[in-house]
Parts: sequence; C-alpha cells; structure tokens
Amino acid sequence: MLQPLDSELSQRYTLLHSLSAAVNERERSEYNTTLPCLALLVGLTAGLIAAPAPLQAQTAAPAPAQTESYAPESGQPGKDVVWVPTPDTLVERMLDMAKATPQDFLIDLGSGDGRTVIAAAQRGLKAHGIEYNPEMVTLSQRRAQAAGVADRATFVKADIFESDFSKAQVITLFLLPELNERLRPQILELEPGTRIVSNSFRMGDWEPDRTDRVEGCNQWCTAHLWLVPAKVEGSWRLGEQELKLAQKYQMLTGTLGTTPIENGRLDGKQISFTAGGVAYTGTVAGTSMSGSTSGGSAANWTATKS
Ligand SMILES: C[S@@+](CC[C@H](N)C(=O)[O-])C[C@H]1O[C@@H](n2cnc3c(N)ncnc32)[C@H](O)[C@@H]1O
Repeated sequence: MLQPLDSELSQRYTLLHSLSAAVNERERSEYNTTLPCLALLVGLTAGLIAAPAPLQAQTAAPAPAQTESYAPESGQPGKDVVWVPTPDTLVERMLDMAKATPQDFLIDLGSGDGRTVIAAAQRGLKAHGIEYNPEMVTLSQRRAQAAGVADRATFVKADIFESDFSKAQVITLFLLPELNERLRPQILELEPGTRIVSNSFRMGDWEPDRTDRVEGCNQWCTAHLWLVPAKVEGSWRLGEQELKLAQKYQMLTGTLGTTPIENGRLDGKQISFTAGGVAYTGTVAGTSMSGSTSGGSAANWTATKS
C-alpha cells in the first residue's frame, strides 16, 4: 500500500477518497467510467512517490506562465476538489433547469475552464466564475474572448469559501457533497427564489426540488435544482385565525387555527398548503404574504407575521 509522503500527496489521496466515498449508486457507476482520469491521478501520485527529490521540488514550484497551448487534464488537483468538466449537454440542461434568462446574473462556484459561465453568457446572461486555480482563470478568460462573450463572462481567482455570491440569481456548482453542505448556510441566506443547480452532488438533507438526467451522456450526467425558500417559520395572523408554521428547507408543517395543514411547501417565494380541504397558494414578501384559495369558497387571503 502506497503511503502519502507529504501534505500535497496526502491531499490528493483525500480528494480521491472523498470523490469515491461521495458518489451514490448511480453516480458510482458513472464514476467507475472515470477510471482513466483517476488512473492518471494515481499514476501522478505514484510517480511523485517514486520520483527523486528534485522532481518533488519541481512539482511544488509555482506553475509556469500559461501559454496558448495550456491544456488542463481531467482529474488534475484543485484546492478542495479536482477539476473534472461538466459535459456540455449537462451544462445546457443545468441552465434550462434554472430557467436562466438574460435578466439573471449567474455565478459558477469553482468554474474550471469556464464552460458554464461561457454557455450562460452565450444565452445573454451576465455570468461570473470563481476559480482558485489561476491557470484555469486565464484559460477561461481566453475561451470567453474566443467565444465573443468576454464582456458578459468574467472570472476571478478566488476561494469560493471566502467569496460573496449574494448578487447571483443562479448559482451553479460541481464540487463534492461535503463542500455543498459547507456552502449551504450561505446559500440559504440568499434572496428567496435564487436557483441553485449542482452537477451530481446533493446538499445533505435538503431535498432537491427537481433532478434531471441527460441521456446520451457518459458520466456526470445528473443535475439537481434547489430554489432558496423564503423564511416563513413562526406565527402569522391569517384573517381571524393563527397560522403556525414549522419549516425544514422548503417543506412546511403546522396548523391553521386547530386544523393541521397538509402538503405545505415553498417554491422560492411561492407558498402552498391545504387546510380543511381548502388549498392556499400565495407569495411571501418578508413579513406578509397573500394569495388566493381554491377547493372551498374561492377567496383572496393575506397573512401578517405576528
Ligand atoms: C469538478 S470541477 C468543476 C468545474 C466547472 N464548474 C464545471 O462544471 O465544468 C471543480 C473546480 O473547482 C475548483 N476549486 C476547488 N476548490 C476551490 C475553491 N476552494 N475555490 C475555488 N475553486 C475551487 C477546481 O480547481 C476545479 O476547477
């Protein structure tokens, strides 16, 4: 059994281990088909172990300035996760799932070679990539220039865990489950209705609002969508009654008066629930919400946070 010799090697083993531990059954079968890239990584690691000290020193030296022929390798190390590109077909599906429009600002967290940001810019969005590897940032900028979208597709060399992404209406990511979970508290503070689309990996116990898989795609072919839910937990005055809501992400339970509510959920700012056979739908706006009912006597309703 090979043992890591220094922290860089140890990090690579950790990344390999994290990736392999993270994938669920379907993703695991996809992941198995990535063996060539993992073999590359293992080979690289083994090569470093076997290499004499000067090679290890060279590997640790700063990267040379990028030339136009710079070509990243799938599986190459990254700060918290390796670079593996999202298939172009899934990039397009992720933008479709987010219902991305030219009015949206998209941020890709860990933007790799810039493909998601560039595809979004080609749809007319302003889009921004945050990427730790400066070589990949330069490559992305060159690719955006070549695609004629450099005015709408921008990139920064930064750590996603030290970045503000609160201005985005659409966030895309292809990281790891534990990294998604680390980002989740920040994501849940975003404007309600912000769309989050992740290649393959989920957000812990926050169930996706939608999951899609593209056909005719070999690996990393599944994406999950979440809408950041409005915050509605607590007591509300709805007409003469008290509406008490408990919230777990987009799922709601509670009572209207003494009647339990059913099918309670949020789709961003849109709230829906049923109480006593009456279906309530509405829109949340901070400490008030309003909408209409159906299934009983059709009426408009408003509620105010107590
Ligand atoms: C799996 S790749 C995904 C690339 C791109 N989003 C895509 O879907 O094709 C993950 C990327 O995140 C970058 N990365 C890893 N840790 C990071 C961090 N802490 N901050 C910013 N970028 C990071 C890696 O360099 C890599 O390019």
